[in-house]
Amino acid sequence: MSTTARAVLRQAEPHFESRLPPGVKPLSRPEAIGRAVELAFLRWEKRRLAPTEQFWRDFGMHIVSSSGDRVIARGTGPGPCIAIASKGQHDRFVGPAFTMSDDTDLDRYVQTLGAKRLAPDDIPGGGAGVELTDPSGRSVWLLQGRVAVAPLPVRSALVADTNTAQHAPRVNRTVRAPIEPAQIVRLGHVVVQTVDFAGMADWYQRVLGIIPTDVQYLADGSPALAFCRLNLSDQPADHHTVVLVGGIEEKYEHSAYEVVDLDALGQGQQVLRAQGHRHMWGIGRHVLGSQLFDYWFDPDGFEHEHYTDGDLFTADFETTYTPLTFGSIWAWGDDAPASMKPKKNLRTLIRVLGLLRRKAITPQRLKLLGQALDAPARPWA
Ligand SMILES: [Fe+2]
Repeated sequence: MSTTARAVLRQAEPHFESRLPPGVKPLSRPEAIGRAVELAFLRWEKRRLAPTEQFWRDFGMHIVSSSGDRVIARGTGPGPCIAIASKGQHDRFVGPAFTMSDDTDLDRYVQTLGAKRLAPDDIPGGGAGVELTDPSGRSVWLLQGRVAVAPLPVRSALVADTNTAQHAPRVNRTVRAPIEPAQIVRLGHVVVQTVDFAGMADWYQRVLGIIPTDVQYLADGSPALAFCRLNLSDQPADHHTVVLVGGIEEKYEHSAYEVVDLDALGQGQQVLRAQGHRHMWGIGRHVLGSQLFDYWFDPDGFEHEHYTDGDLFTADFETTYTPLTFGSIWAWGDDAPASMKPKKNLRTLIRVLGLLRRKAITPQRLKLLGQALDAPARPWA
């Protein structure tokens, strides 16, 4: 008999909110003011628009308009735009815009949260809207009455013709996905890091009516990360549309765009590599959300994700909880790059000392966050 040690291959078991282990604290669930039904678009400020426009084209967006002041892009889906970059003094993510349900009363945001009405000319795609500021100071737009546009042509997904050992529909035919940018159908989700995780989770749930699909908690049982989906009632919604990550700074993490299928992800990677863009991570499969993913940096270092084959849930599906670990981000594929963790340098040290001095974070929480990130992602490797 062989005496070679065998690696233990396992992932954390999720717990339903109604059956949490002792010591795990459920995420508080405030009453919602209204209900978001779509992440409509993201707004950017860029010092130089041309490199962003080129990246967006190579990444698979379609440019709707481009002037010296503003670039607007869409996917092939019916949304009139999914990304807007305006020329400015900084390279920064300005904020997201959400489409709200028809029965949401935007005036309630004006009355209860001091939201300001947007001028109709300021909203690409038309309609009405209000602007709010989240607890981290980021601008959030809530919109209604946007007019859908005719979808653009896009090839059919090849998945229906996938041959497996059990099912082989493709006979006398080949797989030849075109070498082209991964056609983006729509904007899927946005992920932000925040120091005040509890405050931000409370605010975004109240403002958008979003539902935590998966919550991750620290070793003391306190929630520190939430993957939240839209409340589309009995219609399936993406596993996550907004993700809040507890951390040591207020930071855009990434945004994600749905492409047609896995071959689009792969051919899209070839195109982006050939055009000299900076790859970050992938191709792999996530655990929470299950998407096949591929991550790229835009010209100013902002992470953008292509994805396909994500999980869908209706509003009644119960929230699940797992321990927060770095390894729980991906099921397989290359290891997540070190750039996804805070750098251990003087700048981080100064930031952390500032947070401790302002009592924005406790030493205990900081220690637990560090433990979660430092635990080996693949202990068998
Ligand atoms: Fe993502």
